Amino acid sequence: MSDTNATLKLDGKDTSLPVLSGSVGPDVVDIRKLYADTGAFTYDPGFTSTASCRSAITYIDGEEGVLLHRGYPIDQLAEQSSFTEVAYLLLHGELPTRDELDSFTYTISRHTMVHEQLATFFRGFRRDAHPMAIMCGVVGALSAFYHDSTDITDPKQRMIASHRLIAKMPTIAAMAYKYSIGQPFLYPDNTLSYTGNFLRMTFGVPAEHYEVNPILERAMDRIFILHADHEQNASTSTVRLAGSSGANPFACIAAGIACLWGPAHGGANEAALNMLREIGRPEHIPEYIARAKDKDDPFRLMGFGHRVYKNYDPRAKVMQQTAEEVLKELNISDPVLDTARELEQIALKDDYFIEKKLYPNVDFYSGVILNAIGFPSDMFTVLFALARTVGWVAQWNEMISDPEQKIGRPRQLYVGDTERQYVPVGSR
Ligand code: ACO
Repeated sequence: MSDTNATLKLDGKDTSLPVLSGSVGPDVVDIRKLYADTGAFTYDPGFTSTASCRSAITYIDGEEGVLLHRGYPIDQLAEQSSFTEVAYLLLHGELPTRDELDSFTYTISRHTMVHEQLATFFRGFRRDAHPMAIMCGVVGALSAFYHDSTDITDPKQRMIASHRLIAKMPTIAAMAYKYSIGQPFLYPDNTLSYTGNFLRMTFGVPAEHYEVNPILERAMDRIFILHADHEQNASTSTVRLAGSSGANPFACIAAGIACLWGPAHGGANEAALNMLREIGRPEHIPEYIARAKDKDDPFRLMGFGHRVYKNYDPRAKVMQQTAEEVLKELNISDPVLDTARELEQIALKDDYFIEKKLYPNVDFYSGVILNAIGFPSDMFTVLFALARTVGWVAQWNEMISDPEQKIGRPRQLYVGDTERQYVPVGSR
């Protein structure tokens, strides 16, 4: 509710704008009536100062490096919770009781299979297709298979569609991987945990028993928790915008996957690992730091910087610790991890990075861990999409149940030609 007002002076006329306060975080100036009252729009490409919705799911304080899901700090969730529990929390707003968690886990495990006909979709893709291309296509295609849960006005159908998406993403992600390496698909094993089942479908083969390594299972689960939601980021905003027209949830999540694919968003962990490999040895670091600082060179330190965090990304801390644990468990000494550690130390002491408040983000260490577990780098963004599906469906549900929800339709500052007369082609 509004306690105060801001005054905008435009063409000599004062317009009063309500100022709204959330439970924590910056106030927002409510400009919904601005156009009606003044005839002017606001201009904010990239939404750097614009709150697009009300949300009670995730809170970020970028200056302090804080990330809360439904009020719970991300490091506590990463240390003490499980991905399935975090999924429940994001969807329902509260941590589940033991019975609620058991029932939710059971429900998710009963939706892990995909329609048998969906498997034939994979054959339409080139075998060297990027798995994110496959994910966009196959997840979008789910709307053709589960049409019985696409009445978005029915909360029950919305929840069934959400459960289906959360449950089927690991199956589809593992199928995308198996297809790319020419191995048979594995059916889910619902006696395993959400993450253990995913590891088995990805790395197991039908001819052999697959034993889930509990340390890798825990590390992978933690990576999923760290990627579960992140407020109104580009892909979540894409899901909300697609959903605002009433589009079905499977199509909306496919839109989110497409947005996540970009190197400035979910593709950054793949780019970060490629960069660390390219740097190769710690003695090459100064050359890359110099390139990152050179205005005429488009090179950026991948895995560094964030639109919101102007302090250490709290997820990066957990990720670094997980990288150390996984490499120790697997008895791997990866020079890429040494390069990453050294690059971080050098960048954190460099004036350019200090002044621009550029810190490692969640993607800086995740590639090292995923590579050690055995994922090829083109699968990294797929894993991000798998985990972020939980946030996407939670945010989509919140949007659909919000009485203030409207179709998203931004305005523009038009800079093109003004009206002119058509000239027939022979006279041009
Ligand atoms: N390396 C070098 N310089 C950088 C970097 C970087 N990684 N990131 C930002 N800068 C510089 C920019 O050149 C710019 O300098 P200028 O003010 O002199 O022009 C300044 O810092 C601000 O950068 P912007 O691009 O305006 O900041 P924005 O908030 O738009 O971008 C982004 C954030 C896209 C994440 C950016 O930091 C970046 O490209 N980082 C590398 C890619 C990456 O790691 N993305 C993952 C993000 S996290 C996620 O999606 C899960």
